[in-house]
Amino acid sequence: MAHTNHRILLAARPAGIPGPEHFQADAEPARPPGPGEVLVATRYISIDPAMRSWIGAAPGYVRQVGIGEPMRAGGIAQVLESRASGLQPGDWVQGRTGWQSHPTLRGDQTQALDLSVGSIEDWAGPLGTSALTAYFGLRDVGSLRPGDTLLVSGAAGGVGQIAAQIGQIEACRVVGIAGGTDKCRYLSDTLKLDAVIDYKAEPDIAAAIRRACPEGVDVYFDNVGGPTLDAALLALRMGARIVSCGRISQAGTAEPYGIRNLSAFSGKRARMQSFLVFDYHDRYQEARAWLAYHLRAGRLRQRLHVVKGLDRAPDALAMLFTGGNTGKLVVDAWA
Ligand SMILES: NC(=O)c1ccc[n+]([C@@H]2O[C@H](COP(=O)([O-])OP(=O)(O)OC[C@H]3O[C@@H](n4cnc5c(N)ncnc54)[C@H](OP(=O)(O)O)[C@@H]3O)[C@@H](O)[C@H]2O)c1
Repeated sequence: MAHTNHRILLAARPAGIPGPEHFQADAEPARPPGPGEVLVATRYISIDPAMRSWIGAAPGYVRQVGIGEPMRAGGIAQVLESRASGLQPGDWVQGRTGWQSHPTLRGDQTQALDLSVGSIEDWAGPLGTSALTAYFGLRDVGSLRPGDTLLVSGAAGGVGQIAAQIGQIEACRVVGIAGGTDKCRYLSDTLKLDAVIDYKAEPDIAAAIRRACPEGVDVYFDNVGGPTLDAALLALRMGARIVSCGRISQAGTAEPYGIRNLSAFSGKRARMQSFLVFDYHDRYQEARAWLAYHLRAGRLRQRLHVVKGLDRAPDALAMLFTGGNTGKLVVDAWA
């Protein structure tokens, strides 16, 4: 059967928040797989803040997406035709689908999903890359220990929800920061964090962190950077660790926020370290085994925010930077 590959191409580089005006849709006949390749039907596409750096004018840590190229993205897809060993039509895989409905992928660059471990929604959420990011960020970078006070910003998002729950599993006191009543209610009522800060409702974020963490912060898992990071520096305990996971508050800003409270950081002999989840590729299996174990035991959950339709991927991307997403953000290309 002939398939059409619907694609969303990068049309222009955003200066600020990316949106539909920076993309254009097109369609072409799907390419039959060559030796070692699979033709797939994309189901869930992960929408990630890093995409902003892949399409901006400034060079980032990976090659930029070219103008006229399909937008780069990781996704979950079902195999339609296969000339790759070990992959059969009907198998579910994850790979670099991009914003495409029917891409042809290299078999050795896709990974078959074990659905005995979790559903395809689980593979998009608590077993996905956001969860791996939280796992390696806390364990390897943050050296999280039982009894620590863990402060997580962006706590209602894809990475943040899992980071907060890993903290709970590791017997830490967990405090989450998020924007808005709905997200904060989810963190306090559903995830049952020890304390929650709505930074959009707090006139003084530093004072709110001090109130929520009276003994100070041992590990700050930083998803947002900017003023929230600056405020967290004032609440560190001796020997604190800051996991610099992301700086979404600074994405596309013309004038990046200048951190002011480094003297508090030095006084506490604290450590701040950034990382990229892809550096831990060789240990994904270890992390997934741990995540799957706690998922099965009912100790981990991930609220997915599903945007319906491939054509809405550009709108979805914009949502990350306005806080419009209420969980791990994915596009359902079958809807
Ligand atoms: N190091 C790595 O390898 C790696 C891998 C994946 C992701 N990351 C980083 O992890 C962070 C979270 O990614 P995610 O995919 O889980 O996204 P997400 O948290 O699901 O979505 C982004 C959230 O950021 C918050 N936000 C947006 N603008 C903000 C601002 N100006 N100030 C404060 N918060 C703001 C919003 O939540 P509120 O409504 O609560 O403000 C928004 O919902 C990002 O910084 C990302 O770059 C790093």
